[in-house]
Amino acid sequence: MSHLISRRTLLKGSLGLAAGASSLVSGGKAFATEVSALPKALTGDAVSNAKNEKYWHQIANQFKLSPDFINLENGYYGILPKPVLAEYQRNIAKLNESNSFYLRQNYTSDADKIRAQIASLVGVSPEEIALTRGATESLQNLITNYRRLKPGDTVLYSDVDYDGAQDNIDFLKESRGANIVKITLPEPASYQAIIDTYSQAFDNNPQTRFLLLTHISHKNGLIIPVGEIARIAKAKGIDVLVDAAHSWGQIDFKIADLNVDFGAFTLHKWIGAPLGLGFIYIRKERLADIHPHLVTETHQSDDIRSRVHTGTTNTANVLTIPAALAFHQSIGIENKAARLRYLRDYWVSKAKEIKGIEIITPDDPRLYGAITSFRLTGKTSKEDNQALAKRLREQYGIFTVARGGLNSGDSVRVTPAIFTKTQDLDRFVAALKQIVQA
Ligand SMILES: Cc1ncc(COP(=O)(O)O)c(C=O)c1O
Repeated sequence: MSHLISRRTLLKGSLGLAAGASSLVSGGKAFATEVSALPKALTGDAVSNAKNEKYWHQIANQFKLSPDFINLENGYYGILPKPVLAEYQRNIAKLNESNSFYLRQNYTSDADKIRAQIASLVGVSPEEIALTRGATESLQNLITNYRRLKPGDTVLYSDVDYDGAQDNIDFLKESRGANIVKITLPEPASYQAIIDTYSQAFDNNPQTRFLLLTHISHKNGLIIPVGEIARIAKAKGIDVLVDAAHSWGQIDFKIADLNVDFGAFTLHKWIGAPLGLGFIYIRKERLADIHPHLVTETHQSDDIRSRVHTGTTNTANVLTIPAALAFHQSIGIENKAARLRYLRDYWVSKAKEIKGIEIITPDDPRLYGAITSFRLTGKTSKEDNQALAKRLREQYGIFTVARGGLNSGDSVRVTPAIFTKTQDLDRFVAALKQIVQA
């Protein structure tokens, strides 16, 4: 047990969900968080820890992975570590046997504790967040219910933003008479060029009222300097909504660093919670600027939970959040972010040297985390990039994904995870070398 945190430790460190639920169902521990094996905490600085292969192999052993392919497409959603998966399975079984007995008596207070746990990790108060089924639902609610738009006001987004969010904003033209402006970010991007592009867009569009910023783009992994851009936007009276679907759990930040009043988050990408989980953030003083969502039968309008109404949904996943957070925290976000960046740098530094490979994500460490995209030089079409991803998959057993939507053209996205081994990346680089030579 030397490299493991005992179950007891976790229960002590958790929110007392065990106590809250213990009197519920026969057996006395119906909804206790029961993660039995967590990795030992690392000491030392994150950059050195990132190279500790022995430790990261231990972490990799906490995941059951398909033997059929090398997974470099960990951006859609995260694979659950074994102890979190086991906890999820237990929660499904327990909810199934207790039926609504638990939901009717104790779920609300347990969900509140989970909300407080999430809030504390992102550095806000629990009244400023409400659980959703993911970033899509969070974005939809925040965009469609944003109250301050007058007909003719401009809403701004860029080509790196999430396609679904772009569609939501486009709908504001029809539903609210808004003027929609889409800008293009420079490629290759630099930190200052990104800020200047937004600044220029604000000057060119003085009616701008609402801005979408994607903290980490799913298209090319670009980290947008949200804090700086939001500061400039705020000074001009522009409200900022951050799409943090890819950033929370991939890089280290608190909501206060972003200077935004509205945010959309996911827990099933980089936090390691089961599918169908996210939350919205609305700064307390701004709650009135987001309309309650459709119905307010359960919560008063001064309660942020009235901004989400999803009906009866998967509850076992919510109850598994403490286990996912415990696993995430046992590694530590600094260590996780540094390891992901190390893995990204590992393959990019080699791939950059291959003639015929174009890396489209900048090399400034402020502008990337785990994700980076590339294409064969000059090959920007959808067909080219889908064929490239297919070839990697079918000929080399390496799973990546082609992404479109950037003004500069399509590319292939490469997303390692904390269980990725450097040997996997060596195989990927070797495949690239063969492909360009063919
Ligand atoms: C940038 C970005 N925003 C939003 C979403 C939607 O997230 P969810 O799966 O939580 O609905 C995604 C999903 O890939 C994304 O990449």
